[in-house]
Amino acid sequence: MTLLLISLPERAAVWSRVFAEAGEPILLDDSDPEAVTEIACWTPPDLARFPNLRAVICVGAGTDHMPPMPDRVVLSRTLAPGIEAMVRDWTVMAVLAMHRDLPLYLERASRGEWAGHGAALARTRRVGIMGMGRIGRLVAQGLSSLGFPVAGWSRSGDPVDGVEVFTDLGAFLARTDIVVCLLPLTDQTRGMMDDAFFAALPKGARLVHAGRGAQLDMDALRRALGVTLDFAMLDVTNPEPLPPGHWAWADPRVIVTPHIAAVTDAVEGAEHALAVLRALRNGAPVPGAVDRARGY
Ligand code: GLV
Repeated sequence: MTLLLISLPERAAVWSRVFAEAGEPILLDDSDPEAVTEIACWTPPDLARFPNLRAVICVGAGTDHMPPMPDRVVLSRTLAPGIEAMVRDWTVMAVLAMHRDLPLYLERASRGEWAGHGAALARTRRVGIMGMGRIGRLVAQGLSSLGFPVAGWSRSGDPVDGVEVFTDLGAFLARTDIVVCLLPLTDQTRGMMDDAFFAALPKGARLVHAGRGAQLDMDALRRALGVTLDFAMLDVTNPEPLPPGHWAWADPRVIVTPHIAAVTDAVEGAEHALAVLRALRNGAPVPGAVDRARGY
């Protein structure tokens, strides 16, 4: 039973150290496919080459880029406090940037223009978070502690302490001044941010997107800017990478970061993989196991 890691040399060195400390073997090349029982990777190899494979561990939080798994293979997404904290930090930064009109001030600054205007209190800006899993709840806590009224929207509507959780998207959008997308990409969320979505927001709303690029219709975003939407801050785009010359790079109302909200810490990634190995060995539930029917 040996895990194959497919990663960059500097990250592989960290995983090797963590695995050595735990007394676990690790393979860093795929020259002996029969020996491989688990694969940890972002981009998977041809899984058919590994006859004894029983788990694939995605080193990130989202697994929508993974191929369908053979029946006997469990897919696990990395659960790591660092990923959750990093997405929380990026999202809080983006919500504050949207709240305090940063795109406007960056544009004025680019012209050397010293001109301020009024500012709103956090308690008057209603934030709505789409996706109330581990990350969404952490973001909700962070934003609530800054004084923003926070609501959530999720497929399940499962209650979350201190947060009103909607399942009715229209009602949720109608009460939301800054809409935050943290959803996984599924058949239900693909393309969901379209013209009707933006039209359901109150005028002057703002978008913060750290879910997946394919959830956003970028043409609909462009049409909504200046109509219902004032600004947007995107860590994920459609397409991705966003090509040079794309309108969103040049539009001063949009801030783009290149999918950097979270970068998995190598030690935490290796520790998650060790937890998966232990669970498999003990016949326990696999941490981060992706539900095939739900898709995340
Ligand atoms: C990044 O987007 C990840 O899924 O970890």
